[in-house]
Amino acid sequence: MKIETVIAHSSELLRIVSNSTQPTDNFLSDYFRKKKYFGSKERKFASNLIYFVLRNLTLFKFFYNLLRERNNWISTKNEFESICYIALMLCYCCPNEFPDFNPNELIKKIEQEQSTESILQLFFTNDFENILSIIKDNFTKIQDDISNLKLEDILISKESRNLLVNRYSFPEYLLESILKNFIDINSLINLLENSIKQAPISIRINLRNSDIISVINSLKTSEIEPICSQISPVGLILNKRVQLNELDVYKSGKIEVQDIGSQLISLVLDPLETDNVLDACAGAGGKSLHIADLQNDKGKIIANDIEFHRLKEIPKRAFKNGVKSIQIHHFNLKTKQNKLIELNKGNLFDKVIVDAPCSGSGTIRRNPIRKFQINERLISKLNENQLNILEFYSKYLKNGGILLYSTCSILPQENSELITKFLQRNSNFIPEDIRPTIQKSNINKVHLLQDYMVSTDFREDETDGFFIAKLHKLN
Ligand SMILES: C[S@@+](CC[C@H](N)C(=O)[O-])C[C@H]1O[C@@H](n2cnc3c(N)ncnc32)[C@H](O)[C@@H]1O
Repeated sequence: MKIETVIAHSSELLRIVSNSTQPTDNFLSDYFRKKKYFGSKERKFASNLIYFVLRNLTLFKFFYNLLRERNNWISTKNEFESICYIALMLCYCCPNEFPDFNPNELIKKIEQEQSTESILQLFFTNDFENILSIIKDNFTKIQDDISNLKLEDILISKESRNLLVNRYSFPEYLLESILKNFIDINSLINLLENSIKQAPISIRINLRNSDIISVINSLKTSEIEPICSQISPVGLILNKRVQLNELDVYKSGKIEVQDIGSQLISLVLDPLETDNVLDACAGAGGKSLHIADLQNDKGKIIANDIEFHRLKEIPKRAFKNGVKSIQIHHFNLKTKQNKLIELNKGNLFDKVIVDAPCSGSGTIRRNPIRKFQINERLISKLNENQLNILEFYSKYLKNGGILLYSTCSILPQENSELITKFLQRNSNFIPEDIRPTIQKSNINKVHLLQDYMVSTDFREDETDGFFIAKLHKLN
């Protein structure tokens, strides 16, 4: 396939995914499975280009509009196709600013004689030099303006916020929501810069089945050089994208794929071996499996969810890990009847974890289109649901028990503000100091918001954004 054809297909796919609510990875794998004429090299180039454009979409649209104003020619071209070429132009003129995407290498694999420059010249024809200098000069100006920004400017001036919105393709609603968490500009810029990078692949070691050294050695035999997480004591970051499910270390239940921040949730819960735990929003069981590992499989975990198709993954994953202490429970929202207490032999639970449905603003590096779909209306709908779910499942906790609330969001509305509201409405719950557990579990580099609330975000490149609050039910 010619490289121009791959770019044309990629731009059409981009148009579809940017107007869809389906996760991009599912959409792309379905699409490529059906279109057999896409070989593995074409698939790699197209998906890398699509993700690169989605992460930086506002920036590339900014240049598209700028060029349209100055140049009649570009307005006659297909918008998404032009955006793809603008993306390639930015990689071509400022490669150090976009280290995550190296089109040259991928293009050569598809058409040996081609380079980024040659395909840009073909597309932009006689205007190539002119467009190159417009893009280069304007990009340099944006970078210079940002380097002179102060936090006060961003707080008071929409124009300053727009600079960041355009450069980092970070929507204004998200930026305004997180601003209150920052007291210095450098850490804000650091977060924004990392928010447009590719998220790493991270794994959690099942300590019941293995240990860090053995897992590292075994990965090295497959030419993977893992790096120890600086945050999670059981986390490793992989240096390349591999099919983990083909490795023995995975098949034998020694590791699980899990984001670093997500690994902290079960560690902060800190279950005793004897605890009965309700994992109220268990999904496919990532946290349940970790809790079972921490309990040496000696406790009892009820993994509950309203979506059976997610829950049904758990028995397979538990079998692979040799875990027997997890029981799944499908809560049917239509009948509203459930057997949670029956399954726990008529008792309330020692610990309840609510890993609530949320905006996913902490995982925008993996699903970048999500950042453009989050708005005030969505957040207020989610907040209502989050509070209802938290109050509903908190009733299954025994007096003196621990309630843990978590999200993969970086927005205070879904995190600290929601917990404050919960505490105001439920006087039988009080904050539980998280610091001793953090110390005991060897967790580092997290942001302590209050003694009982902790978060991670992309300021640490190795993790997605997560929030955890730990509460205690009074006797
Ligand atoms: C953030 S995901 C949880 C991910 C999961 N804990 C894991 O580790 O993979 C939120 C889950 O909440 C579930 N959910 C939504 N409303 C619910 C409710 N009322 N009761 C229980 N689960 C619910 C969703 O189906 C979804 O699986």
